[in-house]
Amino acid sequence: MSSIDATKGSQNVVWHPHSVDSHVRSTLFQQRPVTLWLTGLSGAGKSTLGFALEHALIAAGHAGFVLDGDNVRHGLNRDLGFSAEDRQENIRRIAEVARLMNAAGLIVIASFISPYREDRQAAREIIGADNFREIHVSTSLSACEQRDVKGLYRKAREGLIAEFTGISSPYEAPLSPDLSLDTAVLSIDQAVAQMLELIKDRLVV
Ligand code: ADX
Repeated sequence: MSSIDATKGSQNVVWHPHSVDSHVRSTLFQQRPVTLWLTGLSGAGKSTLGFALEHALIAAGHAGFVLDGDNVRHGLNRDLGFSAEDRQENIRRIAEVARLMNAAGLIVIASFISPYREDRQAAREIIGADNFREIHVSTSLSACEQRDVKGLYRKAREGLIAEFTGISSPYEAPLSPDLSLDTAVLSIDQAVAQMLELIKDRLVV
């Protein structure tokens, strides 16, 4: 049972509709919102691809923003660890933030391990299937471990980090992602081009 009581704050609150239509926002931003959900192992290249895509979008005059696991865990989700329950809450909050940012008209790039299929499905439902694109950054465990950019795999193998994804905690790969990108094979530019192609319908009004 979660220590977070979802029923606690949800009484006596009334939804207030916005007076600005989503079409007006689309015209303002010259785009229609979407969330690209990047899932994959630690060190797979999610953040690198996410920030490269953000850069490409901004350079092309679009409003995109990365929500990144390590960054969000510095602030909004600093109270969460890496148990299955905490990861679920991590993903739920991120999905709610992505939904709000989409409602504001922005293109969101969500870069999280998000190891559980069920949690990614919940994110899809919160964000809305029409605005959700699942991208598997499918770089293999052996490639991620070999890179070990943050030195976390070594620590996990030494037993210094508990519940480390791929070592002592599961990763459930997507069964039918919209896109699979293996950064051991693709260049950053190639991967960014594939992501832009995937959302090209959103880059016009
Ligand atoms: S998620 O599983 O809840 O989606 P998230 O993407 O937010 O994870 O955070 C992952 C990042 O936290 C990793 O890139 C890594 O830097 C760091 N981290 C620290 N401990 C762990 C752990 N036990 N398992 C996975 N990542 C961890």
